[in-house]
Amino acid sequence: MTRPSWAPEGIDLDRPSASRVYDYFVGGMHNFEIDRELALMIEKFTPNVAETMRANRDLLRRCVRFLIDEGIDQFLDLGSGIPTVGNVHEVAQARNPEARVVYVDIDPVAVAHSQAILDGNERAVVVHADVADPEAILADPAVAALLDFDRPIAVLLLGVLHFVPDDADPLGAVRTLLEVCAPGSYVAITHATLDGQPQEVLDAQKLSGRTSTEIVLRGKDEIAKYFHDWTLLEPGLVHLPLWRPDNPEDIGEHPEASGAYGGLARKD
Ligand SMILES: C[S@@+](CC[C@H](N)C(=O)[O-])C[C@H]1O[C@@H](n2cnc3c(N)ncnc32)[C@H](O)[C@@H]1O
Repeated sequence: MTRPSWAPEGIDLDRPSASRVYDYFVGGMHNFEIDRELALMIEKFTPNVAETMRANRDLLRRCVRFLIDEGIDQFLDLGSGIPTVGNVHEVAQARNPEARVVYVDIDPVAVAHSQAILDGNERAVVVHADVADPEAILADPAVAALLDFDRPIAVLLLGVLHFVPDDADPLGAVRTLLEVCAPGSYVAITHATLDGQPQEVLDAQKLSGRTSTEIVLRGKDEIAKYFHDWTLLEPGLVHLPLWRPDNPEDIGEHPEASGAYGGLARKD
């Protein structure tokens, strides 16, 4: 296929990419036929997947708007994916043009796409790093150049920690990142869970576990630990549509079907 202008050179156009599949699910334009085919296969096994991803992306937008209104003007977005529909720098800079954003992702495809999309934006960059290696992230020159950890900052960990297995010590990694943040900083976390899922989703998850070790679904109590001793803001750690919905009708009849929890905490 022909390489579209936004796709960086060197990207394999014949292999699906997880970031572009996510982009497809959230209604983005940065995906190929090969990604859409994989997305449809995933949807057959886990019919809720598109709803979960959209609910996650919607929460991201609500959260960034809230943070900007609270006066936050710098964001460290870990596991950012392809910055596409309603991405952090767009939402933030629309409300405060001075807002700065550092995106971090482990996936070279997401990083390459991000670099192409962010080209020319002086206040948003992408760094190729593993969230489980916070020292490398904090030592990265792009992070130091754009973010000032002596002032309040928002650390965004949306839809990423369930990709980090326990043996990579995600809890310790998040603690290291939170420790360097100034009082008044925020951390936002969304995380997939099996809590509240119907039996067929549990069965599908067991099947996928045989072939893939990619996603670690954690329970609410376990996810709550990632906020460490920061203060959870209302409404706490809740299923995604329940987190500060723009309209009550956005919650729907089954918020637990989102299959994930989200919350926002502040460092006092
Ligand atoms: C589901 S997407 C979430 C994108 C975005 N944060 C959002 O909520 O809309 C998850 C992203 O996390 C990235 N990721 C997975 N494991 C990671 C790790 N260990 N370190 C950094 N990024 C990671 C994936 O490459 C992918 O782009």
